[in-house]
Amino acid sequence: MLPTKEEALELLLKYNESDALIKHAKQVEAAMMHWAKYYGEDEHKYGIVGLLHDLDYEKYPDLHCQKTEEILKENDYDEDIIRAIMSHGYGICTDVEPITNMEKTLFTIDELTGIINALCLLRPSHSVLDLKTKSLSKKFKDKKFAEGCDRNIINKGIEMLGLDRNVVFEETIKGLQERAEECGLKGEL
Ligand SMILES: [Fe+2]
Ligand SMILES: [Fe+2]
Repeated sequence: MLPTKEEALELLLKYNESDALIKHAKQVEAAMMHWAKYYGEDEHKYGIVGLLHDLDYEKYPDLHCQKTEEILKENDYDEDIIRAIMSHGYGICTDVEPITNMEKTLFTIDELTGIINALCLLRPSHSVLDLKTKSLSKKFKDKKFAEGCDRNIINKGIEMLGLDRNVVFEETIKGLQERAEECGLKGEL
């Protein structure tokens, strides 16, 4: 089944208490929903995949993705949602290769939204609303900045998508801008 947003959120909150992880989930959800529009695909489904992609990470970090697969199967979630979530751990904790647009997008923007979040916190406005692609590009190249966000994974994802890096940056920023308040990136603007 494809859950409603409320059902997915309820599941997220059942397994997650960390504000940082919940914020991350909402940021990935926002970016995914924008990318669905970019591809003319199912915005709701992309959002659910984004919201739940790290469902198991707080309670089962050593079983990341595997435990989510188990939980979502128990809840009768559709196979394409489960597969997409598994594929964000490709080469890290799963061998499920991202194939669809939805999967490749999730793989790419997971770490990328982490860099954008860190960058927003640094800015005087604390906001994504006035963030420019150029600033993100600069910080992306600065390997010391938000070094926990793996540039190799992002580059690998961009290559899978077959898009220009600046397009990926710009569209992902747009997604976060569209839901800035909801994903904690409105700042003082
Ligand atoms: Fe993850
Ligand atoms: Fe994540």
